Formats: sequence, structure tokens, C-alpha cells
Amino acid sequence: MTERLSLVGLGKLGLCLATCFAKRGFKTLGVDIEERVVDHVNRGLAPWYEPGLAELLAQHGGKTLRATRDHKQAIEQTDVTWVLVATPSNPDGSFSNRFVESALRSLAEALRDSHKDHHLFVISSTVMPGSTDSAFIPLLEKVSGRKLNDGFSVGYSPDFVALGNVINGFLRPDLAVIGQSHPDSGKQIEAIHKQLCENQPAISRMSIINAEIAKVCLNAYITLKISFANSVANLCECIPTADVDAVTKAIGADRRISPYYFQGGLSFGGTCFPRDVHAYITLAQKHGVQAELVEAAHRVNKHQDEHLAQLVLSEINRSAGGKTLGILGLSFTANTSVITESPAMKLIGELLKHDLHIVACDPLASDNARAMLGSAVKYVDAAEDCLANADIVVVTTRDAKFKAAVEGYAANRPLTVVDCWRNIDPAKLPSQVRYVPVGKGATAAA
Ligand SMILES: NC(=O)c1ccc[n+]([C@@H]2O[C@H](COP(=O)([O-])OP(=O)(O)OC[C@H]3O[C@@H](n4cnc5c(N)ncnc54)[C@H](O)[C@@H]3O)[C@@H](O)[C@H]2O)c1
Repeated sequence: MTERLSLVGLGKLGLCLATCFAKRGFKTLGVDIEERVVDHVNRGLAPWYEPGLAELLAQHGGKTLRATRDHKQAIEQTDVTWVLVATPSNPDGSFSNRFVESALRSLAEALRDSHKDHHLFVISSTVMPGSTDSAFIPLLEKVSGRKLNDGFSVGYSPDFVALGNVINGFLRPDLAVIGQSHPDSGKQIEAIHKQLCENQPAISRMSIINAEIAKVCLNAYITLKISFANSVANLCECIPTADVDAVTKAIGADRRISPYYFQGGLSFGGTCFPRDVHAYITLAQKHGVQAELVEAAHRVNKHQDEHLAQLVLSEINRSAGGKTLGILGLSFTANTSVITESPAMKLIGELLKHDLHIVACDPLASDNARAMLGSAVKYVDAAEDCLANADIVVVTTRDAKFKAAVEGYAANRPLTVVDCWRNIDPAKLPSQVRYVPVGKGATAAA
């Protein structure tokens, strides 16, 4: 049984996973090159917001979860190391292995100098399929001076979690995919997953290459689903009284489809889906295989951003009043500060070309947005201030605070609310508010 383990890369995913390991009884050593993150962990403080992270760190940080910048300690103090460092995109869309290789090199050097019999490395970062067999294992063998499945073994176990729901995603996943260099290492990784999870996910053990392909394929497939729902939403908008939710809810009940990631509304964004789509296309091209479906998802996604901008511009033209636009939600999804490829940020970029005043609210993400947009946008902390200052408000995420603010707003002048996820109850809006739900036919709108 594994009692202690280490995790290299205490980033958006790794830190959450480390706290989950600690919560589930593993004595966990986190390794990161960032001093600030290491200090925060050892003081039991969250370096950024992710639901549940602050609470878990307060409980376990500096106690059963400790952090260091020294990779050697991972080899000396534990026999299993998870590697979950960043794999940024290369210009051609493939994932760069440079941080994984740097981490593995440091670990392998420590292993070379150690007298222990065996160490298990579990790579968890998203990588181009083939990376573990062609790059990581040869590097580990060369630097450590040991042979695979003799002095060390390797697993590839990717993550399928979403930002804003990372801790829940690690503790209660639908599935765990385990690529193994040897059945014994696969068995050990499976036992760790079973102890980590509060539910009983479907666990699949397979070769490392299949696990790497599975990771890239799962995200590519979800983007197809999102894009299909977005196409249905656009169709419904053009048909009087049509309602995308009625359609996707009904057909999503079919197990062959399932309701998840099937709402229709905005483009997919964030740090994963857009670049995973590119990586899939690059992988297919490398092997001379067509990737039309995934390429189409990429095109549909781009179109969805243009579609939202057109919808908002047509509302601006329609409104007789001022031209101040409110944006409720800057991040790509609720409960995160991440604005990478966020539909709201792309919308703002487009609207700024039209000489509009923009007032935005998203306390978690506004620092990141300010760093990108500077003073072109005015930021407010309360959604009510955004509503009070704008003529048209676009609600881009399903944040409960935005819903409550819009539904509780006592409008004393005309206001248009564009609701991208149909999260707001139009019956609660005063008569001065024009309600424009994305994905509903004209006469279905209030
Ligand atoms: N963010 C997501 O939603 C998501 C979802 C699934 C999978 N992934 C994948 O998980 C991986 C990690 O993503 P993330 O968003 O947590 O990345 P991140 O950039 O937030 O964090 C990476 C961390 O690794 C650390 N690091 C880099 N080199 C190191 C080294 N040599 N030794 C120790 N630490 C080192 C960095 O300091 C940083 O703290 C990526 O491959 C990503 O594609 C991300």
C-alpha cells in the first residue's frame, strides 16, 4: 500500500491534486520551482482561488502536505512521484515537453545518486501521444543509469478535470485512465486512484500510448459535443419560439448522447479545450490522417464568438439610449480567474473596435483582464454597479451572484440583458428590462 507520495508541479491542477491526496490519507510531498507556491503550501494558504482549495490547504498544508523546491526529496522520501507540470503549446499546436523533461531530469539525477531499489513515476500532464515511450523513458534511463521496469517504472495517468471544479473532479471522477509500463506499476496506480476517489470511477488500464491517445481524444470529442449544441442554439435562435434547452435536455436524456457539456451558448475556452483541439489536429496531420470533425469544431467555435459579437452589436444598434456595455463574467467559466480564450474577453476585444464604453464585473478575474486590456475597460466589484452603469449587459458565465444581481435589479430605466446560458429567470425581471436569451427564437424571448 502506498502511504507516501510526491507530486511535482503545484499549479492549477497539481496543487489541487496534492491537497486531495492529503485529504485522502496520503502523506504528500509537493515539489515546485516557484518559491511563492511552496511557501503558501507550507503555511496552509491558497496561492489562488479554486473552490475548496483554501479549506483543504488550511487543514493539511504544512502538515500531511508539505512542499519543497528540492526534487531530490521526492526520491528520498517517497517511492511514487506524480508529474503534473505545464505542457505549453508549441507554435504548431503540439504540446511542449520541456517542463516535463526538466522535472524528470532532476528526479532521475536524484535516483541515480540513490540506493533505493525502485521508483514509480506517474506522468499526468497532457502530452503528445508517443512522448512517454520516445522521450521520457529514454531520458529517465539515460540520466538515472537504470532500466525501465527494473530500477524504475512509469505510468501515464491523465486528468479529466475542469477548472472551477478541480477538487470535486479529482475526488469524484467518472473515469481513471492508467497507462502502465508494467502490470505491477499499473496495479499500484490503480490502488492509489481507488484510495484517492470518494466514488468508484470506471478504471481502465492499458498501454502508455493508448492512455496518451485517450486523453487527447476525450477533450477533442467534448469539443464536438459543445459545438453541436452551439449549432443547435444558433438554429433555435432563427426559429420563432424554439428553445435550445428544450431540445438538448430532451435528447441529452438519451444515454448515447448524455446531458453534459451539451447546453448550447458560448464558445469553449480556457487552458485546455482550444489547445487540445489543435494538438489533435496536429497529431492527425503528423500521421497523415484527416481530422475534419475536430477541424469543424474549431471553425464552429470561432463562429460562435463572431455570432455573440453580432448579436450584441445588433442589440446596441437597436437600443435608443447610451452605448455603455456591461459584462458580467470575464473568465472562461465561473469560479476561476482564468481568462485564457474566454468568450467574454474575445467579445470585449471585438466591441472595443466599436468605440463603446465597457464596464465589467468579475472579481476573481478582473486583475488578469486588467493586465491584458489595461484601462480600456472599467472594472467594478459588484454586479449591481455593472447593471446600474450599463445600457446593455451580457451575462457570460453561470455565476450564481450574477444571476441573483440581475434578478434582484430594480431597473428604473431601460436595460437589455443578454443571457448567454439562459440562467436568469425572465419572470423576475422588471418590465424595463429587455431579456435576450442566447439560443431561443425571437418570440420565445421576453
Ligand atoms: N488546467 C486545466 O484545466 C487542465 C485540465 C486537464 C489537464 N491539464 C494539464 O495538466 C498539466 C498542468 O496544467 P496546469 O494548468 O496545472 O499548469 P500550471 O501552469 O498551472 O502549473 C504548472 C506548475 O508546474 C511548475 N513547474 C514547472 N516546471 C517545473 C519543474 N521542473 N519542477 C517542478 N515544478 C515545475 C510550475 O511552477 C507550475 O506551478 C498540463 O499538461 C495541462 O495541459 C490541465
